[in-house]
Amino acid sequence: MTSAPDRTPTRRRVLPAGENGSLWEARPSCGIVEFRGTRLRITVDDPWEVLFPTDCGLSLLGALDDASAPVLEGVNALDIGAGSGLYSVALLAAGAERVTALDVNPASAAQTVANVTTNGLDGSRLTCVTSPLEEYTTDERFDLVITNPPHLPYDPSYARTDGLETALVARRGGRAVYDAVVDRVDGLLAPGGSLLMAHSSLADVPRTVAELTLRGYECETLEVFEMDIPLLAYAEHRETLQLRLKELRAEGRAEFDGSRFTVHALLFRRPRGAARR
Ligand SMILES: C[S@@+](CC[C@H](N)C(=O)[O-])C[C@H]1O[C@@H](n2cnc3c(N)ncnc32)[C@H](O)[C@@H]1O
Repeated sequence: MTSAPDRTPTRRRVLPAGENGSLWEARPSCGIVEFRGTRLRITVDDPWEVLFPTDCGLSLLGALDDASAPVLEGVNALDIGAGSGLYSVALLAAGAERVTALDVNPASAAQTVANVTTNGLDGSRLTCVTSPLEEYTTDERFDLVITNPPHLPYDPSYARTDGLETALVARRGGRAVYDAVVDRVDGLLAPGGSLLMAHSSLADVPRTVAELTLRGYECETLEVFEMDIPLLAYAEHRETLQLRLKELRAEGRAEFDGSRFTVHALLFRRPRGAARR
């Protein structure tokens, strides 16, 4: 099966640089983001347990705010790694029919429900599932899968056991959840459905694009965002983290320049009539 090549990005946005990999001195816990004309309030009760949306996560919303972005009204969507529920809230606000918010972190479900409720959205259109993606089973086929996986490489010296680590760090050079998405997406998407992904350049964008295009998906880069490598949570381990990243870059598995990297807002369309895996 032939597939369309990845198109040249139409827009590149450069986010400002801060100190220590963040514009903020402390991890925020509450904020308002405007999405498709609606102001959405996102809160996390404990920012060390549930990730407050980072620039990386927000960039995908920025790309979806564009006129050329896919239709969200009426879709049945799966939000993989829902975290605070940022995407679930945005999708419901944009008119999604139903949203399933999946996260391995049990604290995500309550936070997602709270954020959906705070924003005056209909909670009966939301289902929360606590499970690793790798073990998630469902007979549903979704029109849309949206995800912003963890993307920093694991190292035992900065391993913790909190939700923030689960949100930011992944095994296999930061690719573990990307690999799970690539592995599971055929069984989750309805034919003709779309996968929307915030893909970090620290976790081998070309590999994901190559694997999915080989399976017949059309890939479109909606936008590329340049920003600081997020080091706020790992400030004391900055050198080790940078060493791991440089190793990955030497192997051709990560792209960054100094303390700056890019996040690619990717849209993959599953071909109609593709066989289920
Ligand atoms: C980078 S955060 C994204 C959170 C939110 N979507 C956002 O953009 O702000 C990644 C999320 O994936 C979840 N996660 C990590 N590994 C997972 C897995 N194997 N299965 C499901 N969720 C996972 C984490 O708990 C975290 O909430």
